[in-house]
Amino acid sequence: MRETLQIPESLVRLLRAAHTVVAFTGAGISAESGVPTFRDAQTGLWARYDPRDLATPQAFMRNPKLVWDWYEWRRSLVEQAQPNPGHRALAVMEGLVPEMAVVTQNVDGLHQRAGSQRVIELHGRLGRYRCFDCGRPVRREEAAPPGPEGVPRCPHCGGLIRPDVVWFNEPLPQDALEQASAWMRKADVVLIVGTSAQVWPAAGLPLEAKRAGAVLVEVNPQPSQLAPVVDFALRGPAGQWLPALVTATWPEAASAFA
Ligand code: OAD
Repeated sequence: MRETLQIPESLVRLLRAAHTVVAFTGAGISAESGVPTFRDAQTGLWARYDPRDLATPQAFMRNPKLVWDWYEWRRSLVEQAQPNPGHRALAVMEGLVPEMAVVTQNVDGLHQRAGSQRVIELHGRLGRYRCFDCGRPVRREEAAPPGPEGVPRCPHCGGLIRPDVVWFNEPLPQDALEQASAWMRKADVVLIVGTSAQVWPAAGLPLEAKRAGAVLVEVNPQPSQLAPVVDFALRGPAGQWLPALVTATWPEAASAFA
């Protein structure tokens, strides 16, 4: 028999009364889809690889093929992955509250594939490309064949193309950051799901919401860096707690998870 997850009654009341809900998500929400996180001991990508070799502009300049191949491996991994009940619960929730957005650090596109309509991507997206030199967006199929570096080239300027993701030492897309910040400042409830909250400026966004009066709820088996300031902590996998949160708050939506 499955253990029933107990959602605090006060949280149910807050969510039912909320006008604006924001989900702030990280790699942990996709863990149950088989996509590795970054910082979990043993299974996290940064336990196996050094981000300085793979996720910086300097690494790409040093060894473009290594970086290219690593991102293409991750792209094929997420293309084969399926959204899990955690992603789906957030998509269902969007239809139940007056206003909702997902602000994600993930580059896997699984929120959109689960049906979330309003997704703000802070760190870009796998499967989208731009030119390392001229910056123009490039569709994979229009890229010129690889030169000696082994990486496809920009059809406009001949530069190397790169994944359209944010690397360390790079700024976040300004429009995404501004939109995310605006959502945080008007949020009544922020669900912080599957992030260790160690990477800035993203990790500072829920703090903006808190300062503006939002209730913070963490969904994570482990306490994140934001744990000291959250109002509720649901300790366990997002794929279990998020559907439980939705059905406890809106029993009429239980059929979405049947
Ligand atoms: P991390 O790998 O730092 O953290 C993943 C979090 O997910 C941890 O707190 C885990 O406890 C939690 N977790 C694991 N399984 C879970 C589950 N089933 N349900 C809920 N939570 C679970 O990933 P992020 O915080 O997303 O940036 O990392 C932030 C950024 O660092 C990434 O966007 C990436 C990385 O370097 C860039 O590439 C720019």
